[in-house]
Amino acid sequence: MTVATKAINIFIADPLSEDGIAPLRAATDLDLNIIVDTGLSQEELISKIADVDVLLVRSQTTVTREVIAAATNLKLIGRAGVGVDNIDLTAATERGIIVVNAPDGNTNSAAEHTIAMMTSLARYIPQAYNSLLNGKWDRKTYVGVELKNKTLGVVGFGRIGVEVAHRAKGSRMNVLAYDPFLTEERAQELGVTKATVEEICEQADFITVHTPLLPETRNLFNKEKFAMMKDGVRLINCARGGIINEDDLYDAIVSGKVAGAALDVFIEEPATDNKLLTLPQVIATPHLGASTIEAQESVAVDVSNDIIKFFNTGTVTNP
Ligand code: NAD
Ligand code: MLT
Repeated sequence: MTVATKAINIFIADPLSEDGIAPLRAATDLDLNIIVDTGLSQEELISKIADVDVLLVRSQTTVTREVIAAATNLKLIGRAGVGVDNIDLTAATERGIIVVNAPDGNTNSAAEHTIAMMTSLARYIPQAYNSLLNGKWDRKTYVGVELKNKTLGVVGFGRIGVEVAHRAKGSRMNVLAYDPFLTEERAQELGVTKATVEEICEQADFITVHTPLLPETRNLFNKEKFAMMKDGVRLINCARGGIINEDDLYDAIVSGKVAGAALDVFIEEPATDNKLLTLPQVIATPHLGASTIEAQESVAVDVSNDIIKFFNTGTVTNP
């Protein structure tokens, strides 16, 4: 595909909601040339983006230093979602390329998915469904646990963590929260108990993580932390693979220390070969936390509006 050079070339490299990019299609005053070309290999992407002004991605495309170097005209990278860990921010900054994301658009979807995963984990819903599909009417194996009166530890108390806590309180759970920026006043206002990671390990029946993947959060939950936890604890990760050490989690499940885990994200994605998926105590989804019609429209609208703002005013809302 050839990219026109006079107009502002916007290259959409991952599938985005068509309603979400409607603001771009409607911005006729800007002479935007919108190219949708998804599912490309790195080599294919590199060969197509020399004249691109804006590269718009979700999470499938990795915007490497090589991709950025090949896009000699690039001014802005838009990420339709929260995490910008698939973009080489250092390489972008060196070139003066602005990176924008959509920090709010999928908060509700990710929180709802987390609660769905926690409930499914507690009640063995995927395992029981699978068993039924295999012709069994097994009412003995899948005796679950209630959420009511259990303690949920929320680690990372930002947008999604807070929304998860609201919903968990609706299920009458006690919520412990840890975040380096959480104050006592804010915890009280939200009806949760401020705690350390260690206190969460010692007291929680369920632990859910909602931090970005940073050097400080990589392997935040590892064998030392599992050793501090209650026997039969259940873990949920709908944030980023690697916050919970996958090898240590595998061992902790096999040993019986951890009763189960619900995982939406993995160190390597697609995670079709992950050994955790061989364990019957693990339930999983293929990175679906933000996959709702509403969230996908919302994140794409937010990034589209920021692109339009950038070319109209030179500023953006979500750098
Ligand atoms: P956010 O920025 O609003 O919240 C993240 C919180 O983590 C912040 O409050 C921050 O202070 C806290 N934090 C940073 N370092 C920490 C540490 N060492 N220990 C504890 N807390 C720490 O982000 P968010 O929108 O709530 O997103 C949370 C995570 O969920 C991100 O990793 C994001 O990429 C991921 N996410 C995943 C999906 C999905 O599809 N599964 C969807 C949306 C977001
Ligand atoms: C995000 O960081 O926004 C999520 O992982 C969802 C996504 O990648 O689409």
